[in-house]
Amino acid sequence: MPDDLPAIELVHATKRYGDTVALDDVSMRIAPGEFYCLLGPSGCGKTTTLNLIGGFVPLTSGELRIEGQQVNDLPPHKRNVNTVFQNYALFPHMSVARNVAFGLEMDGVKGPEVERRVDEYLELVGLLALKDRLPQQLSGGQQQRVALARALVKRPAVLLLDEPLGALDLKLRKQMQVELARIHRQVRTTFVFVTHDQGEALSMATRIAVMDAGRIAQEGTPQEIYYQPADRFVADFIGESNFVAGRPSQGTDGPVLELASGERVALPAATASLATGEEATVMVRPECVDVGLEPPPGPGWAVIRGRAIGVSFLGDLTRVTVVTAAGEVVASRPHAERSRAAALGSLLDEEVSVWWSTAESIVIRQG
Ligand SMILES: Nc1ncnc2c1ncn2[C@@H]1O[C@H](COP(=O)(O)OP(=O)(O)OP(=O)(O)O)[C@@H](O)[C@H]1O
Ligand SMILES: [Mg+2]
Repeated sequence: MPDDLPAIELVHATKRYGDTVALDDVSMRIAPGEFYCLLGPSGCGKTTTLNLIGGFVPLTSGELRIEGQQVNDLPPHKRNVNTVFQNYALFPHMSVARNVAFGLEMDGVKGPEVERRVDEYLELVGLLALKDRLPQQLSGGQQQRVALARALVKRPAVLLLDEPLGALDLKLRKQMQVELARIHRQVRTTFVFVTHDQGEALSMATRIAVMDAGRIAQEGTPQEIYYQPADRFVADFIGESNFVAGRPSQGTDGPVLELASGERVALPAATASLATGEEATVMVRPECVDVGLEPPPGPGWAVIRGRAIGVSFLGDLTRVTVVTAAGEVVASRPHAERSRAAALGSLLDEEVSVWWSTAESIVIRQG
């Protein structure tokens, strides 16, 4: 298959359940070898998308292609696709090795080839030493690895994963995220991974589709989604955001956002074309915001005065919440020195400034 043929292609795909539009005219192209994450809140259509690709539910309208072939009417077992579910669904009375071998044998693979491939994929997921155990003798994370080996051993073109780490505790989840990324690099199978956990998507995906009510709100690399959110929904859903609303106008040193209080907050130079007089919203991430009694001198800073109403010491960083004329602004400051933590702590109840480089301001659409 030439590399420019998408592994998965949805063309104007719509799925309705009665009156519910679960997927609303969605088009996407997933390249071979991608780790593609479908990310979004509950009910936005993530599982529906996966079920359409897997062939478990039919499309209402539109087209689905796998490796260039239109497969709308092809049953699941004839698609070059395999699925890993959240609840593992291992056979409890079969050993780890038998669980992995089962699907291969169903496909007609026979003899020493079965054992060779089972060993290869158990090695890949780090479970070769436990191949004779029963699923109940494994931890949750180990069971999930068996499910992964069982799906990968058939060497599908595409692996579908629906919140596969959802049942694991936080620490194990983090470990499995690193593991999954490694396994993906090794096998280079196309992964389509569903999650509602933005940290999970950011840490593993080559590309993310942020979904909202059956549509794709934005598609891009983790960095694009994080640093250039297309609208307020994406900015709110991914990471933490401060929003500052006001009216753009032309200041003496370039464009500014005028707050209800009359304060003028510098905008990035490139936003000069914003319509004057209409309301605009600027987004800035808490880790880009600094806080103190006085802002640094010189141009290039967006500055707002306010009162520090909350200081939370989190060990490696301190979060300071400041009430301003534009609402609450949170500054999240990392610190390697104790003295810095103490200085931030002393700001509680003080009149302070928050500031950030105008280069970190993102002017966003309402969404
Ligand atoms: N079999 C079904 N019959 C009727 N409505 C359905 C069916 N499956 C899903 N829906 C509806 O379609 C919409 C999308 O559901 P879907 O399961 O794709 O969401 P999701 O993004 O996977 O959510 P979650 O994060 O909660 O798993 C929801 O409104 C849901 O109620
Ligand atoms: Mg779901």
